[in-house]
Amino acid sequence: MPRTIEDQTTGELGGHGSVLARQRRDHAEMDRLMERYRTLADGEERERVLKQTVQLVFSHAFAEETVLWPAVRRSVGDGEALTTRVEEEHQEINDLVADIERLSPGDPEREEKVQRVFALIRQDIRDEEDLVLPRLQEAMDPEQLRRLGTAWEAVRKSAPTHPHPVVPRRPPGNAVLGVPLGIYDRARDVLGLDVPAAALKRIFTGLTGVLLSGAVLAIVRRRR
Ligand SMILES: [Fe+2]
Ligand SMILES: [Fe+2]
Repeated sequence: MPRTIEDQTTGELGGHGSVLARQRRDHAEMDRLMERYRTLADGEERERVLKQTVQLVFSHAFAEETVLWPAVRRSVGDGEALTTRVEEEHQEINDLVADIERLSPGDPEREEKVQRVFALIRQDIRDEEDLVLPRLQEAMDPEQLRRLGTAWEAVRKSAPTHPHPVVPRRPPGNAVLGVPLGIYDRARDVLGLDVPAAALKRIFTGLTGVLLSGAVLAIVRRRR
């Protein structure tokens, strides 16, 4: 019976660089941020904490969908069913955060959606730590888990930090569209872009459309 990764030692997870240890560290940080949000009164600091939570959750989930879930599908028997379940959770989180970003702080509907998205993030963490990642641990040795950890971290660093309806949940489409949008999101996070964001987003979406068409053509040609 696979054992949850929640209470294993870092050594058992394959060391600090293992994808399992990296996942657990991020999950603990998400928990800390959501708990901090709960203790704060309405205001600037609470909005800053919400923004940090969204940035962490989106870059983390994008790297899962690009690197980690394909590895689970390749190496775990029922990997398809396991990853479909967490991808559905990610899609619900994506849709709720898109709504939250459209609504104004202080709107009761927005607060209700924040509470729903936090509950979903907590559910996603439990499904990953209790169901998906223990199966990956059974299928891979510590060296493979560390290699996967390095790849996951590299993608996470340039991943989108906000929801984008155009990005699919699976490779190759998510990587082709998500990486340029990651650059756009990070520029927006750093520069606090609001007004030019729509125009900038159109440029990036157009660019990614061209890239996606190229990738689809390349795949079609390779299959012929
Ligand atoms: Fe995760
Ligand atoms: Fe996740």
